[in-house]
Amino acid sequence: MDIKLVPATVTSVNEMCECGRRAFANDGLDNAVFPPRLRNPTNEEEIYKFRMERIGKRVQSPNWHYVLATTVPVDGHAQIVGYAGWVAPALGNESKHKQGNDLAKDQVEEQSQVAEAENFPNGMDIDAFNFAMETVEKAKKETLGEDEQKVWYLMSLAVDPEFAGRGIASSLVKWGLAKADRDGLPAYLESTPAAVGMYKRLGFEELRGLHVIKDNESYFLTVMKWMPDVGTDM
Ligand SMILES: CC(C)(COP(=O)(O)OP(=O)(O)OC[C@H]1O[C@@H](n2cnc3c(N)ncnc32)[C@H](O)[C@@H]1OP(=O)(O)O)[C@@H](O)C(=O)NCCC(=O)NCCS
Repeated sequence: MDIKLVPATVTSVNEMCECGRRAFANDGLDNAVFPPRLRNPTNEEEIYKFRMERIGKRVQSPNWHYVLATTVPVDGHAQIVGYAGWVAPALGNESKHKQGNDLAKDQVEEQSQVAEAENFPNGMDIDAFNFAMETVEKAKKETLGEDEQKVWYLMSLAVDPEFAGRGIASSLVKWGLAKADRDGLPAYLESTPAAVGMYKRLGFEELRGLHVIKDNESYFLTVMKWMPDVGTDM
């Protein structure tokens, strides 16, 4: 089946949420942040709305580049089977309206996952969420230092399990690597256990493991970086 990559729009958000929900159903961190013990039919809707609003905001942000992988139907609806959310580096030339410090400030906010407390839905373990995001943000600062915003940052990647193992995630990652290569900048991410092998195959280096779930030493995210001169078979 042919798959094409297209930019996300606000009309894609609902289907992206569905795709993400299926992709992350068995992910340890997602299950720690939205634990089955807290969930019920009433807050399920709230959680869905929270996810929708988050993705919707990002899709409309000039710093974010959400790329969709869709099927190419002969007729009818092109199904969204995967997506990648890349945050562009703060180079001062990504927006016609904002320059220099303003853009860098926006970028710090865009790349920060720690959400406002009042936005959190019932059914979400807020402490678990903040613990994970603070760990991730601290590691990013420590790893990249003053170049923290000078990376193509892959913040979100999901492929519908029904379409796994066909190179869809790889092509979504390569989309961002081509941008990083063009800019002569690294790409950076924190990988779930499921995706480390794929990123390594694409030329990413493993830098460190992050324990992002309190009292759980067996689940960790892997900080990974791709350098433009490392090269891949793009
Ligand atoms: C991890 C995830 C993104 C991988 O998506 P995917 O589309 O299946 O990934 P790919 O097909 O590009 O690569 C996966 C494997 O399929 C194999 N593969 C790639 N292209 C292939 C092809 N055309 N035919 C057969 N196999 C192929 C690769 O060997 C790869 O194996 P590896 O991981 O051992 O290197 C997806 O399973 C997912 O969404 N998981 C849950 C969410 C998640 O963990 N996201 C990552 C956040 S960092």
